Amino acid sequence: MTAVDDLERHYELLHDERNSLLYWYPKVKDVAPTPRSVWLEIDVDLQWLEVGVPESIVNKLKRLAARLDPSPYPLFMRTDVYSGKHDYVDTCYVGSEEDVRPNLYNLIADSFLKDLFTRAVVLREFVELDWRFRAFSGKLPIAPEVRVMVRDGEVERWFFYWPEDAILLPDRPDWRKLLAEMRRTAERERERFLSVAREVATEFDDYWSVDFARTRDGRWILIDMALGEVSWRPELTGNYTETVPDLKETLDLP
Ligand SMILES: Nc1ncnc2c1ncn2[C@@H]1O[C@H](COP(=O)(O)OP(=O)(O)O)[C@@H](O)[C@H]1O
Ligand SMILES: [Mg+2]
Repeated sequence: MTAVDDLERHYELLHDERNSLLYWYPKVKDVAPTPRSVWLEIDVDLQWLEVGVPESIVNKLKRLAARLDPSPYPLFMRTDVYSGKHDYVDTCYVGSEEDVRPNLYNLIADSFLKDLFTRAVVLREFVELDWRFRAFSGKLPIAPEVRVMVRDGEVERWFFYWPEDAILLPDRPDWRKLLAEMRRTAERERERFLSVAREVATEFDDYWSVDFARTRDGRWILIDMALGEVSWRPELTGNYTETVPDLKETLDLP
């Protein structure tokens, strides 16, 4: 394998249709607790970057929101592959009907920049997660979240989703302590999401990441999935184990 082959393979996997929520959501929705979701398939036009997203699409989404829930706001809006979570209030967090248009524009424009294809706009029931502080320019709530890696139908390993190094612009000085507490909660409650992950794993071939988050009322819900090779894993960013000694045992790094 040359470096170019690797790059080509990565590019192919990144754009593999199985990364789409439209592929994995129908397979998990009756197996794992996951936010109720509806979507509108769209054909994105490059011109929208200049002229804006067509009014007809914005209106269809508003009607779709009403079908998700009679009082649907706040709701969580993402594309079938991307949420723009670091810009949270300007992308995936839709507090009211007025946010649909600007946030949708940001999601689509961002996806273009990141070379991600958009097949659909997804509206998801907003679930209050058990967050302890906010971070990034978009004020994303940081909650106990984990990534479980599954391979050929079985759970391979899991890790906490937020290494300290990944947190930018935290909104509280004591965020490191809060993050460590959330990590310990995940460690303590791991059987609760691992048992669900085992069920989910049986539905899928190949290598996958399966993300779970803890809700305010103490449930672990399935948030996202993607092919494993194109999902972030701690070893891709170096010294992760040094910064989280508590979890060394559960990480099982090569
Ligand atoms: N339905 C939801 N309600 C509330 N928060 C959510 C919901 N879905 C996702 N989130 C939060 O937004 C983050 C990003 O969502 P996700 O769908 O995983 O997008 P991405 O693939 O861009 O990371 C999650 O890690 C979680 O903190
Ligand atoms: Mg995700």
